[in-house]
Amino acid sequence: MPGVSARGLSLEERRQLAVNLTRVLSLYRSILDAYIIEFFTDNLWGTLPCSWQEALDGLNPPQLATQLLGMPGEGEVVRYRSVWPLTLLALKSTAYALAFTRTPKFQAPSEFRENPSQSSRLKAPFRKHVRPKKQHEIRRLGEVRRCLGCRWCLGARGLKPGHLSRFMSLGLGLKVKSIEGDQRLVERAQHLDQELLQTLGKEEKRNPQMVQMHSHRSPHHVAQWVDPRTLCEEVLLPLETSPQGEARLLLTGLHACGDLSVTLLRHFSSCPEVVALASVGCCYMKLSDPGGYPLSQWVATLPGYELSYRLREGACHALEEYAERLQRAGPGLRTHCYRAALETVIRHVQPKLRRPGVQGIPRVHELKIEEYVQRGLQRVGLDPQLPLNLAALRAHQAQENRVVAFFSLALLLAPLVETLILLDRLLFLQEQGFHSELLPIFSPELSPRNLVLVATKRPLGQAFSVLETEDAAAL
Ligand SMILES: C[S@@+](CC[C@H](N)C(=O)[O-])C[C@H]1O[C@@H](n2cnc3c(N)ncnc32)[C@H](O)[C@@H]1O
Repeated sequence: MPGVSARGLSLEERRQLAVNLTRVLSLYRSILDAYIIEFFTDNLWGTLPCSWQEALDGLNPPQLATQLLGMPGEGEVVRYRSVWPLTLLALKSTAYALAFTRTPKFQAPSEFRENPSQSSRLKAPFRKHVRPKKQHEIRRLGEVRRCLGCRWCLGARGLKPGHLSRFMSLGLGLKVKSIEGDQRLVERAQHLDQELLQTLGKEEKRNPQMVQMHSHRSPHHVAQWVDPRTLCEEVLLPLETSPQGEARLLLTGLHACGDLSVTLLRHFSSCPEVVALASVGCCYMKLSDPGGYPLSQWVATLPGYELSYRLREGACHALEEYAERLQRAGPGLRTHCYRAALETVIRHVQPKLRRPGVQGIPRVHELKIEEYVQRGLQRVGLDPQLPLNLAALRAHQAQENRVVAFFSLALLLAPLVETLILLDRLLFLQEQGFHSELLPIFSPELSPRNLVLVATKRPLGQAFSVLETEDAAAL
């Protein structure tokens, strides 16, 4: 999906963007507030203007991907099946114009060209136990650190079992402290540190002239839950005594969920030793309200700035992944329609039971709708042998494309919510005189939360532009 670059926007432009976002979100809040599994129970299709229904009805999934979500399709020119109403065209253009672009300045990451599961840019020991997505993320965050020029790195949990902290310390030779609330994850991280140290030790014996960049400096792990309301002493404690002037701390959080990202921002602004911040958020629905959003004085004064739980949940979209499914028109797209049909049956039997979790029904696309409903009823503790209205279920099934179209519409708008949350963070930092940018440095196909907020206390000049390309490593 096209979008606007967050880079280089003036304070005035950032503020105006926030104004426009809150206006647009107020207008289309109902689409974003909807739950797709209530498509039939809440007649979501009927909530759309008739002219939109006409335009979207009958569009197949690949057409939705290209015509609505702006994904590249066959040919350069989008061929509309019918004349779209101006309101829908305007919504589409507005969504493209107001969302921060998620497209990095590189195409597919070249590191996986030869082998899709092994990054050619990471040494083998640093790839062990690490999924390709994580390999890409830790490598790219390593480049961010390089651009920022910090020697110390403080991670509020890098990656689940500490992959980022391990790479930053043993791979890049930084002093790293890593804070994680879950003791079991800390223990697992320490175990993996030891394993890597042994591997590196063996390699060095075999190859003594190898540069000993890591010099066996493993990360310092701390098991501690960081309270978002206060400053955490552990973050403020120096890693170890250092020669004067050496303390250049980078605070980083990779997919630090909910308030944890906000806590990092607060520590960055209150702690003089922290000179830079690299933060990738996730799980926006876990943000406290108030406290986690809004942070900036500017956004807090705008009418309609509020973002409900549902809106923040929708902001954790995986747009490119869904668009790719649309383009393939795979049978997996059926799941939302089946689940929405199941909800009608559940409501009929138990009107008070709303949107219960029905995870893990295998191979949904191979099931008939009634088989799916029976399994779903069993999952939520209802009688799977209930007599079903087959004609009604079939009628729901016939509307599968409408369900997909409605979901695509919500997905078109979801990046606006994420943009507003991240823009608020940029404005918060700017209000305190710091320099901050938001850069899509991960491939969005690999890593849906791919916008990295980078902040510094001194102007960084051109370093940010280098970050946007794939060759920051060449620095
Ligand atoms: C969503 S996971 C991200 C994991 C990893 N960074 C990734 O990208 O896969 C967030 C991690 O942060 C930890 N965490 C969340 N809030 C925290 C807090 N307030 N204090 C300490 N750890 C926290 C959780 O235990 C979890 O391991």
